[in-house]
Amino acid sequence: MMYSISSYGRMILDQPRMDAYLQAFRHSIQPGAVVIDIGTGTGIHALMACQLGASKVYAIEPATAIHLAKQIAAANGYSDRIEFIQGISTKLTLPEQADVIISDLHGVMPWFAQHIPSLVDARQRLLKPGGILLPQKDTLWGGVVTAPELYQSYASPWNDAPYGFDLSAGLKVELNTWGRGRAHLEQFLTNPVQWAEVDYRTVEEPNLKAQVSWTVDRPGLAHGYMLWFDTLVTDGVPLTSAPYAPEIAYGSAFFPFLEPVDLQVGDRIELDIRADLISQDYMWTWHTQVTRSGLAQPLAEFKQSNFFSQTLDPQKLRKRVPSYVPSLSEDGQVDCSILQAMTQQLTVEQIAQKVAAQFPAQFPQGQDALDRVRDLAQIYG
Ligand SMILES: C[S@@+](CC[C@H](N)C(=O)[O-])C[C@H]1O[C@@H](n2cnc3c(N)ncnc32)[C@H](O)[C@@H]1O
Repeated sequence: MMYSISSYGRMILDQPRMDAYLQAFRHSIQPGAVVIDIGTGTGIHALMACQLGASKVYAIEPATAIHLAKQIAAANGYSDRIEFIQGISTKLTLPEQADVIISDLHGVMPWFAQHIPSLVDARQRLLKPGGILLPQKDTLWGGVVTAPELYQSYASPWNDAPYGFDLSAGLKVELNTWGRGRAHLEQFLTNPVQWAEVDYRTVEEPNLKAQVSWTVDRPGLAHGYMLWFDTLVTDGVPLTSAPYAPEIAYGSAFFPFLEPVDLQVGDRIELDIRADLISQDYMWTWHTQVTRSGLAQPLAEFKQSNFFSQTLDPQKLRKRVPSYVPSLSEDGQVDCSILQAMTQQLTVEQIAQKVAAQFPAQFPQGQDALDRVRDLAQIYG
C-alpha cells in the first residue's frame, strides 16, 4: 500500500495517536537506546526517539517518502543518529538488535497487509531479549448498530434504480465490502463486546478466526457491525479507534448486513468472523445468524466475504489455478527481453534501442521503449 504525503501529514496531525506514541516513547526510550522505527514514513517517530536521547535509530521504509524523511532529519540536526534504510523490515538484516522497536503499521483493523507477520519477524530477529515493542497489544471491540444513512450510502446506487435502470446486480458486490464508518453510542442496539486480542509480544498467527455474540438491549433496525480496536501502546497508554470517540487516522470499521434486520430486545446475534492473509492482503469472511426465542428458524442468516466484493475476471481467475500452464504474452516477451538485457551491463538507452529493434510493432516511438526500460530498471535494477 502506497501512502501519499498528505496521508503521512494526516497521521502527523492525528493528535490522540501522536500524543499516545510520544507518551509511550517517554516511558520506554532511555538515553543511549538503540531504536528501530519500522515504517518510518516521513520520519516523525525517529525524530522523537532522537529527541528523547536514542543514540541510534534505524528508520526503515520501502516508500520513496524516506528521501523526504532524510531531508527532514537533516533539517532537525539528527542525520548522524538516524540511519535510513529503504526496504521492508522482513527482508533486512541489521548490525545490532534494538532496545525498542516502534511501528505503526495498522489499517482500520490490525489484520492489514503484512502488519502482523512484520511484527512477529521484528520481535524474533531485530529486538534484544527483554527489549520493548511499541505498540504492545490491540483489543478488538464491536457492536450491532442502526446506521440507516451509512447503509444507504452503500445500497442506494444499486437499490434505488437511478435514472430508471436496474443496477441491483451491484448490491451483493457492495454489501460484501466493509469500509470505514462512524456511529454515535445511541446507534448501538447492543453493548460493545470484546471479540479478539492481538498481543504483539507473543502473537505468531497472522490470521483471525473469532466468534462473538450479542443480545439486543435496544430495539431497532440493524444495519451491521461497528468494529474497532483499543491499542495499548505501552502500559498505561491507551489509544482507541472507537466510532464514538474522537476520530483517529485509522477510523473504525462498518461491516454491513446483506439486508437490514428489525431487532427486538432479547434477540441474539452470532458472528463468525475470519481474516485470512492471502499474498499481500486479507480475505475477510463474516457469517451472521440472528435468532429470536420462540422462533424455530433463524430470523436472518448472512454469509458474506470481501471475496464477493471483487468484480472477478474469469480469465484472470483461470490463470491462478495451480494446473494452469502459462506462456508469455507479447508484453511478457518484451519484459523478459529487457530483464535479460539488464544482466549484460548495458545502459538503459542501449537496452531501449535493443528492444525497440527486436519489437518494432510494440515500440513505433523510441521514447516508449525508453520509458518501459526505465520502469523495469527502477523496479528490478
Ligand atoms: C501508517 S504509516 C506510519 C508512518 C509513520 N511511522 C507515522 O507514524 O507517521 C506506515 C508505514 O509503514 C510502512 N511499512 C509497512 N510495513 C513495513 C515493513 N514491514 N517494513 C518497513 N516499512 C513498512 C508503510 O510503507 C508506511 O509508510
